[in-house]
Amino acid sequence: MNFDGSKILLCVSGSIAAYKAVYLGRELLRNGAEIRIAMTENGAKFVTPLTFRAALSAPVIVNQLDEPEKFDMEHISWARWADLILVAPATANIIAKVAAGIADDFVSTTILATKSPVAFVPAMNTAMLQNPATQRNIRIAEELGYYVMQTDSGALACGEEGEGRFPEVSQIIDFVKYLLVEGKKLAEKKILITAGPTREFIDPVRFLSNPSSGKTGILIADAARKMGADVTLVHGPINIPIPDGIESISVISADEMHSAVMDNFKNCDCAIMTAAVADFTVPKKSDAKIKKGDGNLKLELVQTKDILAELGKIKGEKFLIGFALETENIEENARKKLASKNLDMIVANLQSKNTGFESDTNEALLLFADGEIKKIPLTSKRKLAKEILRELSKRI
Ligand SMILES: Cc1cc2nc3c(=O)[nH]c(=O)nc-3n(C[C@H](O)[C@H](O)[C@H](O)COP(=O)(O)O)c2cc1C
Repeated sequence: MNFDGSKILLCVSGSIAAYKAVYLGRELLRNGAEIRIAMTENGAKFVTPLTFRAALSAPVIVNQLDEPEKFDMEHISWARWADLILVAPATANIIAKVAAGIADDFVSTTILATKSPVAFVPAMNTAMLQNPATQRNIRIAEELGYYVMQTDSGALACGEEGEGRFPEVSQIIDFVKYLLVEGKKLAEKKILITAGPTREFIDPVRFLSNPSSGKTGILIADAARKMGADVTLVHGPINIPIPDGIESISVISADEMHSAVMDNFKNCDCAIMTAAVADFTVPKKSDAKIKKGDGNLKLELVQTKDILAELGKIKGEKFLIGFALETENIEENARKKLASKNLDMIVANLQSKNTGFESDTNEALLLFADGEIKKIPLTSKRKLAKEILRELSKRI
């Protein structure tokens, strides 16, 4: 792997995992990056700047206000120098400061001053990580466009077992590779995304539909746009605002979604079909409101057009991603759908209290045509969206 001279500013904050940042720095160098180190005052109490300077032959700044003899406004010049700012380990405190826009030391000021991507690798005690304030700060940081890596689960320095462990250095290197190399592969790629439910009207005032909120599709569209992709979003009736910079096409029925998707598929490089399209509709909508009458009403339903299966037949070199929302046998059902619809990847998830329709979180299995399978544990839908794009950019 070669980072090809990419300039990485490694920021170290006051976590017990700070010593692992020395090894991380060495691996960044070994992979061809040029690095500089910035430390918080507390970070510098865990591992001395001298250790980083000596082990990595890299310049280190802790507090630029203490070093006025060479006045260079490093919080600006280093912020401009970096292709990537990597905060590893990132304390709950530095994430909170960044979420609030606080700039009260060299690390937080440089982060505020940069236009380059910034990624956080959190490390902390499980209770600190799960504290709603930390979760909120991570969410805000992500909404502001920062990347926050998922922590590992396992033995923690505090003696507990759980989430919050600093990930393996090899995983962080993979993440950096994604940020510097693979993530850029989506730049200027044309991505077609569908989102939300469809409505099958049976008369002018009633319809068959489902509770899909469209959240996942919109989060994928937003993340793909931020990675430079040219995004077209075909969506059913949804109540979430569509972020700027996305071409959106609003449809109501499965039939309309089919037409809009077919019109736009030929020009795309990749299609991500998250919409919960109705499988059934009435053969003919009644022109007038169906009256209650005396007895029960029997509805005849016919199948709608299978958009995903049609795309699978004509996809050629395009990368096609489908979704499967299941209530049982997720893996088995998803594997069948992956094969029968000729998909490159399928995101399978379960409908439950914290996952599936309407929820802000999700847990998924990603299955690939080459047989690979990846489990995404319960996480925010925003993180899942990024994971899906990460897998796409590895393969596109
Ligand atoms: C021994 C020790 C270990 C700590 N480990 C962590 C940690 O892993 N993660 C974390 O968020 N805070 C940890 N803290 C707390 C932070 O050091 C503290 O919140 C500090 O204010 C962070 O400052 P900084 O973000 O400016 O580096 C630890 C504190 C001590 C004394």
